[in-house]
Amino acid sequence: MISQHTIQQILSRIDVVDIVGSFVKLKKRGTNYLGLCPFHNEKTPSFTVSPVKEIYKCFGCGRSGNSISFLMEHEKYSYAEALRWLANRYNVEVEETETSPAYKEAQQKADSLYIINSFAQKYFSDLLLNSEEGRDIALSYLKERGFNDTIIEKFQLGYCSQQREAFAKAAVAAQYNTEFLLKSGLVVNRDEQLVDNYRGRIIFPVHNQTGKIIGFGARIIGKNDRAPKYINTPENEIYIKSKILYGSYFARQAIDRADECLLVEGYTDVISLHQAGIENVVASGGTSLTSDQLRLVKKYTNNLTIIYDGDSAGIKAALRGLDLALEEGLNVQLVLIPDNEDPDSYVNKVGKEVFRDFIAQNKKDFVLFQLEVSLKDAGSDSNKKSAVVNRIAETISKLNKTEDFTKQQDYIRQCAGLLHIDEAGLNALVNKFIRERVTKQENKAQAAEANAQSENEKVIPDLADDETFSLLNKDELVERNITRALLEFGAYEWNEQQKVYDFIFGELEENGLDELIDNKQMLRIIETYKTWVQNGIDPSPKNFLYHEDIELSTLAVGLMDTQYELSHNWKEHYDGPMPTREELYKEEVASTLNYLKLRKIKRLIDENQRDLEKIHSPEEQLTLLQTHQHLKQLEIELIRNNGTVIFR
Ligand code: CTP
Ligand code: MN
Repeated sequence: MISQHTIQQILSRIDVVDIVGSFVKLKKRGTNYLGLCPFHNEKTPSFTVSPVKEIYKCFGCGRSGNSISFLMEHEKYSYAEALRWLANRYNVEVEETETSPAYKEAQQKADSLYIINSFAQKYFSDLLLNSEEGRDIALSYLKERGFNDTIIEKFQLGYCSQQREAFAKAAVAAQYNTEFLLKSGLVVNRDEQLVDNYRGRIIFPVHNQTGKIIGFGARIIGKNDRAPKYINTPENEIYIKSKILYGSYFARQAIDRADECLLVEGYTDVISLHQAGIENVVASGGTSLTSDQLRLVKKYTNNLTIIYDGDSAGIKAALRGLDLALEEGLNVQLVLIPDNEDPDSYVNKVGKEVFRDFIAQNKKDFVLFQLEVSLKDAGSDSNKKSAVVNRIAETISKLNKTEDFTKQQDYIRQCAGLLHIDEAGLNALVNKFIRERVTKQENKAQAAEANAQSENEKVIPDLADDETFSLLNKDELVERNITRALLEFGAYEWNEQQKVYDFIFGELEENGLDELIDNKQMLRIIETYKTWVQNGIDPSPKNFLYHEDIELSTLAVGLMDTQYELSHNWKEHYDGPMPTREELYKEEVASTLNYLKLRKIKRLIDENQRDLEKIHSPEEQLTLLQTHQHLKQLEIELIRNNGTVIFR
């Protein structure tokens, strides 16, 4: 985890115009900046960046957010990745907290591997482009296959010399550690000697989502039946095959724009399609899709189109991933490339336009395709055929989300047709699979029920609802006011010994936080603020504005956005220049707290009153009456020193 201290430093340097401006061309318009929205297609700019509010908003598509959410949306970074990107840009050293020694060690290993890979990529690219051997053997081969200079540079392709140990020597001379060189797979140990693993091969660097190189694929040049066509990086701390989609770094924005991800098998397919201007494409490496890979796709789009060559073994592999894809809620379609071509050779043969049209016109629904394939397999064998029915029913049952209901019914109708079976029968079978799974889930759920209960209470209602509710409820307003005062003035001075937050927390604690504040959301903000203070930070609204938890950040923004107005009382009783809230923060804090305490007393009095109405023994009666008097006394005192309660 990145420490709050680091986050604080990053936040203090953030400049929304600078950050958004590095991806979108912005022009100054008054106090704001204006540009073409990167999230939808438009000809006249409606994308506004406000440096004062530190937010962006598009009046065309409605997307809005702050610097961090911009990076998360536009670059598809996680919260932590966005912070790291910012830290790098503003030269903030990232300090990690709660890191176990094991985590730290893994982190260091990963960093060493990234550094070695980056060195290797530069070395191999240089060799490909600038050495005689590289140009004669490798570059000429790539050119022959139709790859141009731009695309070769973009994908950072390279070449590893035929010499036994050219790279190994260069790496050792550059002082890279032998253990990591071996781990990276770039070199191997032969008779106590480090030799190059990818000798005489074209090098395809594999990038992660943030563009760092996690490994390589090394293709033999031309045909050779005695050696494997590709040698790939072995699994290590950063190269985890099941999580890799080749090309995702280069494809993410195009996928976002097209709202579709094309999936192909190989490195060369991805690169050729890019060269043809089709950029929303990634490769799985020909193995069956894993749930990690599918989740990666889902970060960008719900629409996955698999493009394989007609008789590739890859189709079978991809089919195995189908149920997973349905469970993830992806719409999966399939296009088969004809005539023993693969996407690479086909796009080179027919060109971009024909290729695009072909894809658009030949998309097949993957569920139906699977059914066709397995029916063909089954032939007239009735045992096999009933297995097919069961299998397809199970597949359809995976689509049991409510929003997929129509789709499910469609499938049942179409599959029943293809299978020549009764629709109602198939429906019943699908339901059986759903029931089985639900029962399983229920059993699991029961075990975790207590847990779930408390989780449920944490669910935050829609902010709009909350807003209306609050406006109808003056009590809530005061709860919001104290929270807002904490956010805005918490770090101000209360007196010589205390800050405002010390005072507020003291008061809240003394009177019981839960008894003063009902609103769960306000409680959350207050508790979060408290934790930060306990960790030695003076939080500012910024800490909330950029909070990882979007709900919390929205809440805080909602609080801050509320236009402040003095109550009518104030306006009536005050002549001369209006004091600002800044000048009156102590009064605001004190009177708001007073109001909350008064409310608590009133509630206690009511409760006591209700109790009194029940039948009691004379002794009990007396105690209750005494309590009543005591509470009344407290109430009077509070009202006396209350001055004016500030509403907005
Ligand atoms: N692959 C692999 N190891 C192999 C063969 C294939 O890892 N021995 C993976 C590679 O990721 C490759 C993908 O499977 O990109 C698809 O294989 P294939 O279609 O044979 O290779 P292409 O990348 O299409 O290469 P080319 O077009 O040069 O034949
Ligand atoms: Mn190929």
